[in-house]
Amino acid sequence: MRKKVILITGACGEIGHALVDYLIENSDLPVVTLDLQDASPEIVDKVIHVKGSVTDKSLFDRLISEYEIDIIYHLAALLSTSAEFNPVAAHNVNVEGTLMLLEMAASQTEFRGKPVKFIFPSSIAAYGMPDLETKTQFPNVKEWEWNYPTTMYGANKLYCEMLGIYFSDHFKQLAEIRPVTLDFRAIRFPGLISAFTLPSGGTTDYGPEMLHAAAKGETYNCFVREDSAIPFMAMPDAVKSLTLLAEAPDEKIKKRVYNISAFSLLASEFREEVLKYFPEAKIGYQIHPQRQKIIDSWPIGCDDTAAQEDWGWSADYGLERCFEEYLVPNIKKRYE
Ligand SMILES: NC(=O)c1ccc[n+]([C@@H]2O[C@H](COP(=O)([O-])OP(=O)(O)OC[C@H]3O[C@@H](n4cnc5c(N)ncnc54)[C@H](O)[C@@H]3O)[C@@H](O)[C@H]2O)c1
Repeated sequence: MRKKVILITGACGEIGHALVDYLIENSDLPVVTLDLQDASPEIVDKVIHVKGSVTDKSLFDRLISEYEIDIIYHLAALLSTSAEFNPVAAHNVNVEGTLMLLEMAASQTEFRGKPVKFIFPSSIAAYGMPDLETKTQFPNVKEWEWNYPTTMYGANKLYCEMLGIYFSDHFKQLAEIRPVTLDFRAIRFPGLISAFTLPSGGTTDYGPEMLHAAAKGETYNCFVREDSAIPFMAMPDAVKSLTLLAEAPDEKIKKRVYNISAFSLLASEFREEVLKYFPEAKIGYQIHPQRQKIIDSWPIGCDDTAAQEDWGWSADYGLERCFEEYLVPNIKKRYE
């Protein structure tokens, strides 16, 4: 009999690190991790690690011959800035890789007669505010508003949400007897801040980069204007949201794509918050006009009423608690 497992793709990245730690401690099912990179020494003995790409079909064929995959957390992706430098490669990983995984999950669902849960981290990049005036006028966007992404990454995320909805709700819709279909659930994340890992390749990276540079005593130049406003969230809340959504009973799930939110702030407010704890920090501004344009197209905040009402979402970390209890103590310890 095949062993029932949880699969995490992109497990060696920022969210992956935190999610794997959580699931090792809290899940009854063994965790299979898949990434282009080797598993870190801290987890290598606690997971079943497969090194490879989500674009490699033969690898999935091997995986399903050995394991019954119950839940997939599909984290592997090229992030927004990397994707702009390599749009075709981004499409290949972010869309083709996701499509292949959805297809595999759909056939596994049919085979076992029970939905495979497919948890997908989407992004505020799925939004595209046309100009700063509109961004200010609509500071709290709902899931279906302003879905006009201006980046390859955002377009990839929005399309993958559609693919997930298709495979869950419309797959084989012309068949006489429709088979059981997979259970796709997605979260649109704001910029995430971890105390333990540094981001790379994202456009919200200026926040965490400011903080980590300050803790290391390095000078940092923020690449967006001081009046740039977007939402952020502490990494433990991101992990909480993914697992809470995965565990929510079917009858609570009223839509397949949910906003979540914690706090929004200007780049200048982020800088002030960092200076509160690291008063010697040298943080200036050196605007990168193209990255600025991308940030200007993302909303100030996201309306997460649906996530609150449907599956009980609320962030544990507001701005103050995030810095005081999670980021600052852990980052200080890390760089001491
Ligand atoms: N970090 C954020 O602020 C944020 C915000 C919104 C959404 N997300 C989404 O969450 C997911 C995880 O983000 P993250 O911050 O951990 O990213 P990350 O860049 O830190 O990690 C991504 C991981 O995916 C792996 N990967 C890339 N291409 C792969 C491939 N072809 N096959 C297998 N593995 C591959 C990388 O090696 C890396 O370990 C992504 O889908 C991202 O779009 C992140």
